[in-house]
Amino acid sequence: MTRDKRTTKFTKPIVSNKEGLQLATPEIVAKYIAKRLKTNIIADLGCGIAGQVIFFARECRKVYAVDKDPEKLHYAKENCRLYGVDNVEFILGDALSPEVKEKVSDADIIFSDPARPLSEKERTLETLKPPITEIIKIYSDIIPDLAFHAPPQMPPERLKLDCEREYLSLNGQLNRLTLYMGSLKCCDRSAVVLPGEKRLCISDASHIKESQLCEYVYEPEPSVVKAGLLDDLAGTLAHEQKEIFFFKSDERRTLLTAPMLVKSQFFKDIYRVVGRTEMDMAKLKIVLRSQNAKNVVLRLDIDPGKYWDMRKTLEDGLNGTRTLHIFGFGNDLIMCEKLR
Ligand SMILES: C[S@@+](CC[C@H](N)C(=O)[O-])C[C@H]1O[C@@H](n2cnc3c(N)ncnc32)[C@H](O)[C@@H]1O
Repeated sequence: MTRDKRTTKFTKPIVSNKEGLQLATPEIVAKYIAKRLKTNIIADLGCGIAGQVIFFARECRKVYAVDKDPEKLHYAKENCRLYGVDNVEFILGDALSPEVKEKVSDADIIFSDPARPLSEKERTLETLKPPITEIIKIYSDIIPDLAFHAPPQMPPERLKLDCEREYLSLNGQLNRLTLYMGSLKCCDRSAVVLPGEKRLCISDASHIKESQLCEYVYEPEPSVVKAGLLDDLAGTLAHEQKEIFFFKSDERRTLLTAPMLVKSQFFKDIYRVVGRTEMDMAKLKIVLRSQNAKNVVLRLDIDPGKYWDMRKTLEDGLNGTRTLHIFGFGNDLIMCEKLR
């Protein structure tokens, strides 16, 4: 057993083994999910060490915490005690068994955060543990309101379910995908940004307009990009009299642009453009020197093994004071200063 004093996942020193802690939902995410799923009785099938259960217990009248692993369930009980919640019924058993179904049959909502087999290359709903597809088959006849965490990188074509897909980013990184079924579904796709709990839903917004590079560039939160909500983001900002345009994207990054400084919690980072050139080291260095650069951060598609060599070559001889970010789209390089 380890007492978690080091991770930033929890605000109290929870108990767990290494695996349980790795799989546990961070407190800030669990709090958001619990608020969204607030109800009378909820069942968490595959509750692990209770990372989510604790916060369900704070929002709901009663929680069923089910796990088939006795060690995890032991930690779950300890952690609930540590957080001072006592409205949890712990059930040791297989979530797919008729016995467990019978025990949790009065729940209003079924939730599950299944484990992802580490060895697996391609994620599917069938191979998660417990499998989402099986839970739907077993439970949806008596409890139609179901919610699941699924691997956020799973391609949408493998998610053939009538559900809302909510992508969540935490501190600028894509953290999870939650699927909401039955009356829990509010729209087809949504994005949430934590901290701050800002939420964006798909709407009938018109297509985001494209533009040439303007003075400012914006990196949208990864949850917004993954949910395909750039049109909706532009629409939401337009309601606030703010105009934002699509500039460029590739597999790894998307940039929006605007002539004015626009602020939104759906932007991961904002930059001011200081130069633009083609992929030519000599030309690039001229711009970097003229812009008083000292360090560079490369946002290009380069072989990771060559990142530090290229960075060293570019920084060699620079004696300014600024850190500049270099975004590359093919031959097009854009030098920017990060504003926040
Ligand atoms: C990703 S972890 C859940 C983590 C949890 N949300 C937390 O914050 O601690 C998935 C859990 O599902 C449990 N599990 C897998 N298959 C199960 C099954 N068929 N029945 C019950 N529990 C199962 C595993 O033992 C594991 O603890």
